[in-house]
Amino acid sequence: MKPGSTEGIEKGTVTSHETGAKALALSSPAYLAGRPIRHALVLGGTGFIGTPLMRSLGDAGVRTTCLVHRMPLQSQISAVQVVRGSLDRYPWHTLERDAPDVVFHLARIPGRGGLRGALTRVRNRLANERLVLALAALPRPPLVVFIGGTLAYGSHTDELITESTPLAPTSFSRDYHAAELPWLTAQRTNDVPVMIARPAWVLGRGSWFAAFYQRVMQAERYVPQYGDGENWMSLVHVEDCASFLLYYAQSGLPGSAVNVFAGAPIRQRELSERLARLTGLPVRRISLEEMERRFDRAVRQAFEFSARIGTVHSALHAGFRGRHRDLDRDLEDLLLAEPVQG
Ligand SMILES: NC(=O)c1ccc[n+]([C@@H]2O[C@H](COP(=O)([O-])OP(=O)(O)OC[C@H]3O[C@@H](n4cnc5c(N)ncnc54)[C@H](OP(=O)(O)O)[C@@H]3O)[C@@H](O)[C@H]2O)c1
Repeated sequence: MKPGSTEGIEKGTVTSHETGAKALALSSPAYLAGRPIRHALVLGGTGFIGTPLMRSLGDAGVRTTCLVHRMPLQSQISAVQVVRGSLDRYPWHTLERDAPDVVFHLARIPGRGGLRGALTRVRNRLANERLVLALAALPRPPLVVFIGGTLAYGSHTDELITESTPLAPTSFSRDYHAAELPWLTAQRTNDVPVMIARPAWVLGRGSWFAAFYQRVMQAERYVPQYGDGENWMSLVHVEDCASFLLYYAQSGLPGSAVNVFAGAPIRQRELSERLARLTGLPVRRISLEEMERRFDRAVRQAFEFSARIGTVHSALHAGFRGRHRDLDRDLEDLLLAEPVQG
């Protein structure tokens, strides 16, 4: 079997090269063989990152099936087979009739904080354990690309955070990390070939940029800076994030995890300063206590979170060329567009 190829992968034959904190460096170009994807199943394809991923798959000519939960698929996304249902109840055994080569998993059952967070953790964990079991029972389990996040590393100071950094989930990932645990276990046990992608702060129309910057700027006529603004942020544009996920599915190694980010990290205050320069609005500091009062503890922790994201997979990253290389230009484009519901 060619390195990096799913062809010939039968249940239990993939060697897991990475468990938890121990990441294998994909520094050898030998791993970066192109893996053909004929049929992809996308879970969460209607979401913020899922929507451009559906477009990337369409552009690449990949036959795509999408599990639609509540929100409809965007109308521009065509030629997709839609199946309806919820992650925790879908009859996964029916996949056997037309099994995908790759499952892109971006679906997270929402809800966080207090009792709701505890329930979310249980629901996400059980739903994902059920999916792992169902995929492992298929004659040829598909490759799963599970989308986690860099909040799972916890907050750090100035050191570079790579895939080898131990996990210590903070903020939203305290509740959502439960969804990832069955996939980490599957990597260790080789039940299903699993790759884990960890996007950093994903920049686009929607999500955190709309909720915590764009809407505040429109309604209050200032650019917010949360806390002292000294925390490090690594960014990636949502379109590049989506393209990278497809590239990773084609070129990455089952059993690996990879951080998804572009360019050098910036301090949070630099993001505010850039937005102020582009809009002519003043920067106003909002205390983290105020954030916790207005939203919740997880939001406060997200803006306390500091991580300079790097990678051990230098060859994999070097092989990907994103389209968004000018942060000011991306910010300008986003500011011209109406924010969408995040
Ligand atoms: N946004 C970021 O900056 C960022 C950064 C790093 C990592 N991530 C991670 O990337 C993943 C995707 O993020 P996102 O921002 O694209 O999330 P999102 O916009 O909230 O999308 C979540 C998707 O999950 C679906 N979903 C929710 N409950 C479901 C259920 N019970 N069954 C099936 N599907 C269900 C949603 O469909 P409905 O709306 O129809 O329910 C939606 O398509 C998440 O795991 C997130 O933690 C995001």
